[in-house]
Amino acid sequence: MNPLTIRPATAADAATLTALGARTFRDTFGAHNTPEDMEAFFASHYREEIQLAELADPRNLYLLAEVSGTPAAFALLRDSPPEKGVPGSRPLMLMRLYVDQPFLGAKVGAALMNRCVEEARARGHDVLWLGVWEHNTRARAFYAKWGFSEVGEMTFLLGNDVQRDHVLALWL
Ligand SMILES: CC(C)(COP(=O)(O)OP(=O)(O)OC[C@H]1O[C@@H](n2cnc3c(N)ncnc32)[C@H](O)[C@@H]1OP(=O)(O)O)[C@@H](O)C(=O)NCCC(=O)NCCS
Repeated sequence: MNPLTIRPATAADAATLTALGARTFRDTFGAHNTPEDMEAFFASHYREEIQLAELADPRNLYLLAEVSGTPAAFALLRDSPPEKGVPGSRPLMLMRLYVDQPFLGAKVGAALMNRCVEEARARGHDVLWLGVWEHNTRARAFYAKWGFSEVGEMTFLLGNDVQRDHVLALWL
C-alpha cells in the first residue's frame, strides 16, 4: 500500500468530505434502502454547507485518511451526550467511520480507528462509543475485533425509515 496519512480535516476539505461521505454511504447502504430515503438522507446530511458547519463545530473532530494524496476514508468524532447504557465518565462518540471502496479491507479502517483511540485518549476521554446498524455485519465484525462490546440499542433515521442500531462501547 502507498503511504497513508491521517490528518484533521479543515474547511478546505468540506467538498471532499461531502463527496466521500455520500459515496461511501451509498455504497454501504444504497442496496438496502429506497432511493427516496437515500436522497432525503443526503439532503439532510451530505451537502457542502453541512460539512462546513460540522467542521466549524467545536464538538467535532473530522479525520481524513489519504493514500498518496487520494482521499480514502474519514472518521467523525463528536463530544456529545451518550446514549443510555454507554459507560464511562467522559465517553466520546465515533459518529462516522467510512472507507472508500478501493481501499476496503486494506487496514485503512484499522489505521483510522487507531488514530481515533489516540485522539480520544489525548482529550481525556475514557470510552469510545458508536451506533452500528444491526445488519451491517462487516462493520460489526470490525468493531468486535477492536474489542467493542454491546451496551444498548438506539434508533437511526434514514429518510423516513426508522432503523435499529446496536450501541457499542470500548474502554480506552
Ligand atoms: C468497517 C470499515 C470501516 C472497516 O475498515 P477496513 O479498512 O475495511 O477494515 P480493515 O482492513 O482495517 O480491517 C479488516 C477487518 O474488517 C473485516 N472485514 C474485512 N473485509 C471484510 C469483508 N469482505 N466482509 C466482512 N468483514 C470484512 C474483518 O474483521 C477484517 O479483519 P482481518 O482483515 O484482520 O480479517 C469498512 O469496512 C467500511 O468503511 N465499511 C463501510 C462503511 C461502514 O459500514 N462504516 C461503519 C458504519 S457504523
